Amino acid sequence: MKKPVLRWGLLSTARINRAVIKPLRASKRNILSAVASRSSSKVEEYAKEWNIERTFDSYEAMLADPDIDVIYNSLPNHMHAEWTIKAMQAGKHVLCEKPMALTVAELDAIAAAASQTGKVVAEAFMYRHHPQTILARELVLGGAIGKLQAIRGSFTFMMNTDVNIRLVPEMGGGSIWDIGCYPISFARYIAGAEPVEVFGQQVTGPTGVDDSFFGQMRFPGEVYAQFDSGFRTPFRTHIEIVGSEGTLTLAAPFKPGLKEKITHYTEASTETIPVPRQELYIGEVEDMADCILLGKSPRMPLSDSRGNVAAIIALLESAKTGQPVQL
Ligand SMILES: NC(=O)c1ccc[n+]([C@@H]2O[C@H](COP(=O)([O-])OP(=O)(O)OC[C@H]3O[C@@H](n4cnc5c(N)ncnc54)[C@H](OP(=O)(O)O)[C@@H]3O)[C@@H](O)[C@H]2O)c1
Repeated sequence: MKKPVLRWGLLSTARINRAVIKPLRASKRNILSAVASRSSSKVEEYAKEWNIERTFDSYEAMLADPDIDVIYNSLPNHMHAEWTIKAMQAGKHVLCEKPMALTVAELDAIAAAASQTGKVVAEAFMYRHHPQTILARELVLGGAIGKLQAIRGSFTFMMNTDVNIRLVPEMGGGSIWDIGCYPISFARYIAGAEPVEVFGQQVTGPTGVDDSFFGQMRFPGEVYAQFDSGFRTPFRTHIEIVGSEGTLTLAAPFKPGLKEKITHYTEASTETIPVPRQELYIGEVEDMADCILLGKSPRMPLSDSRGNVAAIIALLESAKTGQPVQL
């Protein structure tokens, strides 16, 4: 019997598509079938460049096609919820780029559409599928650093342009939505809980979005997280996980390459722990196939996406009011 294969359609010609094109082609259970764009000339050119068989000159046309099973939603942030819901209502499963939504109400509407349609939907937080992330959590749960006390993280890069969806407030722009979402997500994953109180401060850029964000989150059991994100600082990422008996550091926590190591410091020793190799974006693609074809639960459940959105909104509220915000 022929093994089932999922036919994927890319919703837009976004730059990030290139990250999933290779893993889709490497996967035995997924194929890249089509791409849709607002512009017919753009989509034809794009399909030629990336050797994609089918094209659609509107998003609606791709959603209406019965020969597409899964949509990769790589639209700007403010369009994620709307088109994820439309895709599920059209009978498609959806892998949606981060952040999955810009409000908790939008996230709840996605969850309602998922339960009405029975379709699989997940946020494309690729780092969560990587063995390094899973190993870091296992080390913490296994007692490698004693009692968890703090998680510190950063993600910055230099935005060398004034024209970018990330700088437009109405499109869900700002460094916290774009990259601060990673250390926030990582901290919540390691803490295994949602923050109960947050405090944030931001540097507002000329377009009105946060060019830099500095935040603190308090979790139950006296666990704290601190992070920064920014568009006006050279590329930087790190995660430090601090406990009563030691510390773990990850130099490339969100975009691990093929030779990552976790460093484990205690008072007595410094050990480097090798991380199993895995291409960064293959995990999210295979996880969709596991959920759709084998009925597994997504590694990034909607409740997790909801927690991240709620934390970001509370942090932005805190930066606006100058007050801590309770969740
Ligand atoms: N997981 C990751 O590693 C990662 C990395 C980068 C970005 N992302 C996420 O992926 C998403 C896309 O980011 P990107 O940098 O790839 O974006 P991008 O290159 O600017 O592409 C966005 C696409 O959205 C479509 N679009 C529809 N309405 C639009 C509008 N009003 N203005 C601009 N574009 C519009 C356009 O495609 P058509 O013209 O073809 O319709 C455009 O190519 C974001 O949500 C971002 O957070 C994730």
